[in-house]
Amino acid sequence: MTTTQANKTTKATLHQKAIAAREHSHSPYSHAKVGAALILENGEIFAGCNIENASFGGTVCAERVAIWNAVSHKGAATFAKNKIKEIMVVTDANEPWPPCGMCRQVMAEFCGPETLIHTGNLQDSKKTFRLGELLPESFNPSHLKR
Ligand code: THU
Repeated sequence: MTTTQANKTTKATLHQKAIAAREHSHSPYSHAKVGAALILENGEIFAGCNIENASFGGTVCAERVAIWNAVSHKGAATFAKNKIKEIMVVTDANEPWPPCGMCRQVMAEFCGPETLIHTGNLQDSKKTFRLGELLPESFNPSHLKR
């Protein structure tokens, strides 16, 4: 398989896993079901959905749930050498939703600037960004190293 084919396969798998996770969305207030799936450099995949709360500030986006799912299964130490390689975010909106500011900051904790962020709708994966584009000059763990 060529690199391009492998990239397409990964994107299609993440798209499918994000759509499946989206089915578990708890979104009775916004009625916006969101799913996310990520792949680590070692090929493991974790997914999540948005989970809203009657106290709206308690709401968590799908991307963060997917990342915390990975962290809680692998242990945070894993991410130093086994980074998040790609993340897919899926909604049913025609124009795909990019991750919110809070999610970008959480991504900066466990991803690198080169991590690919795919945005898609129910039909397909659409725009892809690098985290470095979405959150340039990020405040990240390197700043707290002494
Ligand atoms: N949401 C996500 O899950 N991911 C995003 O990238 C943007 C927004 C969720 C949060 C909330 O449950 C709903 O979508 C509306 O903001």
